[in-house]
Amino acid sequence: MPHDAKDGTHWHEPKAGQNAGFGNFSRPSMPYDRFMEAEGIPVHRAIGVNRVHDLPMAPWQRLGGRGTYIQLFGTEGLWGMYVVEVPAGGALNAEKHMYEKQVFVVEGRGSTEVWNDGQTKKQTFEWQKGSLFAIPLNANHRFVNASNSPALILCGTTAPNIMNLVDNAHYVFNCPYNFTDRYAGTEDYFKPKDDLEPDPVRGLAMKRTNFIPDIINCEMPLDNRRSPGYRRLEPHMGNQRFHLWIGQHETGRYSKAHCHESAAILICVKGKGYTYTWPEGLGSKPWEAGKGDKVMRQDYEFGGMVSAAPMSGDWFHQHFGVSKDPLRFTAWFGANNHSALKPGRPGEAMADIWAIDIKKGGRAIPYNDEDPYIRTEFEETLAAEGVPSRMEAKLYEAGD
Ligand SMILES: [Fe+2]
Repeated sequence: MPHDAKDGTHWHEPKAGQNAGFGNFSRPSMPYDRFMEAEGIPVHRAIGVNRVHDLPMAPWQRLGGRGTYIQLFGTEGLWGMYVVEVPAGGALNAEKHMYEKQVFVVEGRGSTEVWNDGQTKKQTFEWQKGSLFAIPLNANHRFVNASNSPALILCGTTAPNIMNLVDNAHYVFNCPYNFTDRYAGTEDYFKPKDDLEPDPVRGLAMKRTNFIPDIINCEMPLDNRRSPGYRRLEPHMGNQRFHLWIGQHETGRYSKAHCHESAAILICVKGKGYTYTWPEGLGSKPWEAGKGDKVMRQDYEFGGMVSAAPMSGDWFHQHFGVSKDPLRFTAWFGANNHSALKPGRPGEAMADIWAIDIKKGGRAIPYNDEDPYIRTEFEETLAAEGVPSRMEAKLYEAGD
């Protein structure tokens, strides 16, 4: 073994009783991390944000607006997110990419042009604050804002997945393939569809649509799984793998805590509130156990968000709406990440354990078995906000 190289540039076998390698090391950047850094705009890394409007943004040469990446803890490598401003009386640069993209309009209004390579007529649809839609995989698209105030759009993507796999941005942005199985220029492609059907895996309320004009105010079917009166809608958009849903807790009520691994980011689209999230190892009553300081909290209002499980392993999370409006989220998971929808042995028996109480074999903490701190603080917060509580005593009775 040569010993004329500089220290640290060649490798030594370990001595007897020692292990090879550094032992301690820092996690390396992945191709998508390096791609984000090279784009020259900020990257927001945290468990959440109160309002995306308030994040620092910088001019984004590739897209032609100002923007920032958002990579909340726990979602690294699972899916990507950014906000970008479409300038007043202007447009973003046209692009296409080998990743899926969903768009939620945070502020303003505008339109989007979509077309496949070789498609003679561009398709255009209009959007406004509250609109949710999908950009078909690898279709060309351009965001236009003809109004006199800027528009702010929030985009969720599968960019990390493809970037971390092929590690070649030129391929991701210049692949000539038209995915006509997902988008073929059909005239009514971006026309909202209203029909509900059960989703094919769990039987929850699903809508196959590529555009929803207003998820702030759209009607929501009853679900009841996370709190009494909870409403939920699962849009399947653009034939994508990207999983998302819209959920709403009634005013004056809060969700039960439940537990699973990272992927979900809950984006507040109505009302305001806060989320507690804590590792499963702290148990169902972390304050009572004297570990309340280990519980993480994120407050949010419209346009804010939180990572449901911000570190590795399973995390309990629980959401509290404290406004006169109900608390409505859209929850984004990326592709193939939801615990019920990730790869596994086909046909394996599963249950909706995230909506089943722990005592019955599930992963949810019933109200009557939760930390008393939670109820006390919620009632005090509602009183301070002047919002009547609807957490009736019967919800805490044993046997619920
Ligand atoms: Fe969850």
